[in-house]
Amino acid sequence: MKFFLDTANLNEIREVASWGILDGVTTNPSLVAKENMPFKDLIKAIGEVVSGPISVECISGTAPEIVKEARELAKLASNIAVKIPIAIEGLKAIKVLSGEGIMVNTTLIFSASQAILAAKAGAKFVSPFIGRLDDVSQEGMELVEEIVTIFENYRVDTEVIVASIRHPRHVVDAALIGADIATIPFSVMDKLVKHPLTDIGMDRFLKDWGKVKK
Ligand code: E4P
Repeated sequence: MKFFLDTANLNEIREVASWGILDGVTTNPSLVAKENMPFKDLIKAIGEVVSGPISVECISGTAPEIVKEARELAKLASNIAVKIPIAIEGLKAIKVLSGEGIMVNTTLIFSASQAILAAKAGAKFVSPFIGRLDDVSQEGMELVEEIVTIFENYRVDTEVIVASIRHPRHVVDAALIGADIATIPFSVMDKLVKHPLTDIGMDRFLKDWGKVKK
């Protein structure tokens, strides 16, 4: 499974890139708004650190506007995936952009039918938001399971990005289902590494090493 970092924060991106396990980055307007940097400069700076796909969201409403905005965003770096919210206008834009070879990440996916339509239009990625479904008492991971099964049934190339991840178990469950990618906030990425028994084990080994005759 590929790991994307769900952030627009350069320090977080540089840190996880240094771990050697970073496959890409996803941003959205809310994440970008937290950073104290002009939007285009920020995306270009992320492009200098990350070689995998960098998702950047379109905010336009009509297909012609989305296409125009996406073409501009795609110029910010060679590895931009334009993020387009699922909608009829979005589908029209995905068809045009994917035909031009621009990677599209269809975002705000909350049903398998939306994922099927995005894939048919040519999206490179679909992003089901599982945490937001969990928040309204729906099992988000069931949606991932449905989409992965459907894409396998028809050998669809569109990759599934499990988004809106809240804790390490979400990552493990996504991997068990066989999702292509998890996009993970920094706080969760950090938790993936840690286990209290690992800390206790390291302490004990270090203490015992002190007793070894050298
Ligand atoms: C994914 O592409 C989104 O940026 C993100 O996962 C949304 O997560 P949230 O529901 O925690 O805002």
